[in-house]
Amino acid sequence: MTTSEDPDTVAALQSRLLRDLEPVVEENLERHIKATQEWHPHDYVPWSEGQNFAYLGGSDWEPGDSKLDPVARTSMVVNLLTEDNLPSYHREIATSFGRDGAWGQWVGRWTAEEGRHGIALRDYLVVTRGTDPVELERLRMEHMAAGYDNGDKSMLQTIAYVSFQELATRVSHRNTGKATGCPVAEGLLARVAKDENLHMVFYRNLLAAAFDQAPDATMEAVRDEVLQFAMPGAGMSGFARSSMMIAKAGIYDLKLHHDDVLMPVLRFWKVFERTDLGPRGEAARTDLAQFLAKLDEQATKFVTRREEAAARRAARTSA
Ligand SMILES: [Fe+2]
Ligand SMILES: [Fe+2]
Repeated sequence: MTTSEDPDTVAALQSRLLRDLEPVVEENLERHIKATQEWHPHDYVPWSEGQNFAYLGGSDWEPGDSKLDPVARTSMVVNLLTEDNLPSYHREIATSFGRDGAWGQWVGRWTAEEGRHGIALRDYLVVTRGTDPVELERLRMEHMAAGYDNGDKSMLQTIAYVSFQELATRVSHRNTGKATGCPVAEGLLARVAKDENLHMVFYRNLLAAAFDQAPDATMEAVRDEVLQFAMPGAGMSGFARSSMMIAKAGIYDLKLHHDDVLMPVLRFWKVFERTDLGPRGEAARTDLAQFLAKLDEQATKFVTRREEAAARRAARTSA
């Protein structure tokens, strides 16, 4: 934890919130189940494009097999490997929320929905030969064996983190789909993005209720998670290089992170309008505001540089 509090107080607050927020979890779980539509990964996979690999008498993958835009392919693989790490995420949220009552039901439901995402993306990529299946499997082994560790976040930090992270994955899946150049992949990723949005709504509503119950501790958790935010797949090999390609292509960049992920959620919580904060909450809000101003500046600079580079490239091609 980055909040400087007496651990006993933190533990007491967590158990009070686990109890007091349970009706909110229950209500939002019901709302979530009503809002979700059943869907099946097999519907989104063009099975007729599939063929055997050499082991069963066909031919093994070659780079020319993939029809996907190369950057979108990198992004799709990053998104799939991220989804693959579900056992680690399950462990983190089950540790944070427990397995009892409505909290436990949510953990189970969420895990099952996330599992569907990995199934759908892998089936699509393997059947269409969108990427090298041998490399994909080796990367999955490496990434899952390393696992994901959230760094012992408190319950409030976990809820704040996943509120942003679910929206971040929604934006990333959506924009990856648009960049693939394949209408089938675009449809699949748009479908997955809808789920991520509903996950975000669940966590966002839960944190809004936490804000009302414990405004200072919640504001500190939000500040901590905005300041140290990293995508869940940040630990995978080659992530720095892949995420730079993804940012340059405008699939997920600092500007989208600031404008389309952080700000809508912070606005929903009325972070900058709250009048119920004590000195600790006020201090956290000041840190948050300073960080966001700096991030916005960096994001704008990044987009300007990207546009200038695109203009230079266009000028060179037309010369
Ligand atoms: Fe997912
Ligand atoms: Fe999700």
